[in-house]
Amino acid sequence: MKKAIIIGASTGIGRGMARVLTDNGYIVGITGRRIHLLEELKNENPEQYIIKAFDVKDINNNATKLSELVEELGGLDLIILNAGTGPYNYDLDFEVEKVTIETDVIGFTFIADWAFRYFKKQSYGHLVGITSIAGLRGNRVSPSYSGSKAFEIKYLEGLRQKAKKEDLHMHVTDIRPGYVDTSMTKGESGIFWLASVEKASKQIYGAIKAKKRIVYVTKRWAIIAFIIKLLPGFIYERL
Ligand SMILES: NC(=O)c1ccc[n+]([C@@H]2O[C@H](COP(=O)([O-])OP(=O)(O)OC[C@H]3O[C@@H](n4cnc5c(N)ncnc54)[C@H](OP(=O)(O)O)[C@@H]3O)[C@@H](O)[C@H]2O)c1
Repeated sequence: MKKAIIIGASTGIGRGMARVLTDNGYIVGITGRRIHLLEELKNENPEQYIIKAFDVKDINNNATKLSELVEELGGLDLIILNAGTGPYNYDLDFEVEKVTIETDVIGFTFIADWAFRYFKKQSYGHLVGITSIAGLRGNRVSPSYSGSKAFEIKYLEGLRQKAKKEDLHMHVTDIRPGYVDTSMTKGESGIFWLASVEKASKQIYGAIKAKKRIVYVTKRWAIIAFIIKLLPGFIYERL
């Protein structure tokens, strides 16, 4: 059976992906801080889940937890870097920005690098990052979120280039969701094309199987991506 780790599987897209992977025969290491939610998920299919609760912000702890998890899984074929946060921050409260950056930049980078080294050593593997359409342009309601997601997008591109230049048998996939119906979008205004977690997870799995480089989820968000990337700054600033 193939082995996967999902960073941030307690709710939302991570939880949806855990279900799709187990349905497709994977054994999945599920992580997050809220252990009771991970246990709830494991109870659905105890044979196919292994729990490891940790906070990705705690970078002194991440490597140990990941190594323990891989040991318990008996190997690793796929890792999905999904954990993320980015609350609205109209007053630019630095503590809020800091948590977003520590999670989406520092934690993300630590785990991406750990996975890259692991896959390089074993000569294969698939690294998937759940970034966001929000990473394509800056966003006034949460500048740290759009900034962090832009970082993730470029970081994954750098790793993909590194894997290619070093001739490694490694795949790097950047999944860029639009709106997905999770706690992250609850109460957000102006939402459209909101996908269910199930639909988004199925499309993400399809992209993983096809070893795509960059994928918008749902697919129609590629149109929005095309438009917002082209939008001149003097128009974008007024939105
Ligand atoms: N929903 C959308 O519309 C949307 C759109 C674009 C991109 N995304 C991206 O999709 C990913 C998943 O988000 P979601 O919408 O599914 O939201 P969610 O339901 O809030 O899920 C976030 C997951 O990340 C984990 N997480 C957050 N901070 C963590 C930390 N410090 N340490 C360990 N785990 C942590 C959470 O687990 P614990 O809280 O238990 O730790 C949870 O499992 C995020 O990267 C998000 O940026 C979402």
